[in-house]
Amino acid sequence: MNKKLTQSQIYNEFMLKFYDLTVLQISNQFIWRCPTKNLLDFFNKHITSNHLDIGVGTGYYLDKCIFPSKNPRIGLMDISSGSIKATQKRINRYSPESYHQNILEEITAEIEPFQSISMNYLIHCIPGNMDEKLKIFENVQKILLPHGIIFGSTLIFDENQNRIAKKLMQKYNEKGIFYNYHDSKEGLEKNLAKYFNNFETQKIGSAILFLGQN
Ligand SMILES: C[S@@+](CC[C@H](N)C(=O)[O-])C[C@H]1O[C@@H](n2cnc3c(N)ncnc32)[C@H](O)[C@@H]1O
Repeated sequence: MNKKLTQSQIYNEFMLKFYDLTVLQISNQFIWRCPTKNLLDFFNKHITSNHLDIGVGTGYYLDKCIFPSKNPRIGLMDISSGSIKATQKRINRYSPESYHQNILEEITAEIEPFQSISMNYLIHCIPGNMDEKLKIFENVQKILLPHGIIFGSTLIFDENQNRIAKKLMQKYNEKGIFYNYHDSKEGLEKNLAKYFNNFETQKIGSAILFLGQN
């Protein structure tokens, strides 16, 4: 039997040590064909000084991006305490707030809303079909200021992918690292339209970059 791993098991201390090299430097460039620089540029374009990152990983983008002010308010939200710990340490200079939360579940903590919320490479890690997993857009409304923006990126299966990319995505789905067999740009757009007044999407390689704003 092929037992699936939980996201907390996957994003453990050991794996996070190699994440920037294997995912951000190698896979993004050569396998998913969406270089990390494109994602960082997207981050820099939409980040504000009152920002929450959901699905923080190693905190690479929060560390490398340029905030519009010197003392931004930054929140970290993740299901995995390993990811939160690694990111907290990495961007300790900003004294971030941390929230241990499964974003598929209702947010019950009292949290001051944010002006911008990022979710980079989060959606393809969440189980369910697009309508089920994109309930996260409803959940984040509670912690997003009026006219605030959400933005991020997610990987989908793509007919133009090479054989290695297809095989790897398949393997990741079997292991529970990814849940994106049924994800699509259309499914994402349908749900962005449902939860936000304005939205944009852009495809780079196997990644869809998106934003939504009320
Ligand atoms: C692929 S990593 C992305 C890391 C980083 N944002 C990046 O783009 O490199 C996915 C992150 O999302 C977190 N995550 C997965 N499912 C989650 C959920 N349901 N709620 C909150 N965080 C989740 C994982 O623990 C991990 O830190």
